Amino acid sequence: MLPAHLPEAHLYRPGTGEPSLRWGIVGPGWIAGEFAKALKNHTNQRVVGVSSRSPERGAAFAAEHGLEHVFGSVEQLAAHPQIDVVYIATPPNDHITSGLAAIAAGKHVLIEKPFTVSADEARSLAEASRAAGVLAMEAMWSRYLPQASVLRQLLDDGVLGEVRTVLADHGQAIPFDPQHRLYRPDLGGGALMDLGIYPVQLSSFVLGAPEKVLAVGGLTETDVDSHSTVVLQHAGGGQSSLFSSLLSRTAMSATIGGSQATIEFGAGFYTPTSFTLRGAGHGDPSLDWSDPTGLSLFDGLSWEATALATFVGEGRTESPVHPLAEVESIMATIDQARAQLAAA
Ligand SMILES: NC(=O)c1ccc[n+]([C@@H]2O[C@H](COP(=O)([O-])OP(=O)(O)OC[C@H]3O[C@@H](n4cnc5c(N)ncnc54)[C@H](OP(=O)(O)O)[C@@H]3O)[C@@H](O)[C@H]2O)c1
Repeated sequence: MLPAHLPEAHLYRPGTGEPSLRWGIVGPGWIAGEFAKALKNHTNQRVVGVSSRSPERGAAFAAEHGLEHVFGSVEQLAAHPQIDVVYIATPPNDHITSGLAAIAAGKHVLIEKPFTVSADEARSLAEASRAAGVLAMEAMWSRYLPQASVLRQLLDDGVLGEVRTVLADHGQAIPFDPQHRLYRPDLGGGALMDLGIYPVQLSSFVLGAPEKVLAVGGLTETDVDSHSTVVLQHAGGGQSSLFSSLLSRTAMSATIGGSQATIEFGAGFYTPTSFTLRGAGHGDPSLDWSDPTGLSLFDGLSWEATALATFVGEGRTESPVHPLAEVESIMATIDQARAQLAAA
């Protein structure tokens, strides 16, 4: 039996007592621009500075987003007394270096996904942030979207029955360019790091850490994973089948299957989207959910920023929604999958 109606999302709404933090951005690239816009338009947070390896790029970003300060390094940015939190939006290989620098300066950090390029690095960052008493959080924005809250409640309430299946895909057609960060092993490129992490984190959210990881796929001529299917076996017999690719665009859909009901996400399961909760029997009724907040696509980055400010206000050093132990476990799954693909 499906419930009469779907639960309300618990949201990290701006203006609910969270501190208004002053943010510095490291790496004025594509996602940094989307993040700055989302903060300006949909939060009580304020971006005040940016650091870049190029004074011109830093100045252009600051002018576009109305920022007061431009810095030449993460160290200078993090040392500035008017910055409370550092958002790291550089390629994945740099996350550990910039993250440790910000933490050493006593600043909170929001680090783009993937948090680091390995579970070992994730552990080092987590230990450093705990020792410093600052908050470290992966910018896994999907976890802070309204749909994640509704999904969590449906799972916790047992509405799906025994959940044994997660199917998810994330394929984008990225033209081959050996200089593009996604095709460069030295920058932490590859489909799993950039795209596959979304299906892997969904599997972790629903079924927890796997007991067994099996990856089949291929490599680019630059030796990053071009595409793969990762099969995860979970305790109790649950299984996940997770596809990612730099070679072809896919529906970016997700299905979570249980003995009593199934959730089918619309396209872009990791972005603000809709889903259908469907009874397990043929002809069973279904319930549709769509994001009621009006925030679409990258406006959705604002939720994680307000969540971070809320956690800082509560004196936390990590996110209760996406804890560092889980971040590390997700990286460990990706480590295993990448090692298998490289060895094949
Ligand atoms: N949440 C999301 O939806 C989402 C979407 C896209 C990307 N991301 C993540 O965000 C991160 C950045 O991705 P992006 O697409 O924004 O990349 P991008 O456009 O290439 O921007 C990265 C920025 O980092 C700096 N940078 C480049 N190479 C560097 C290096 N070797 N060391 C230090 N800094 C370097 C560059 O700025 P300067 O050269 O000016 O210093 C560059 O503008 C990645 O981790 C990615 O997975 C998240």
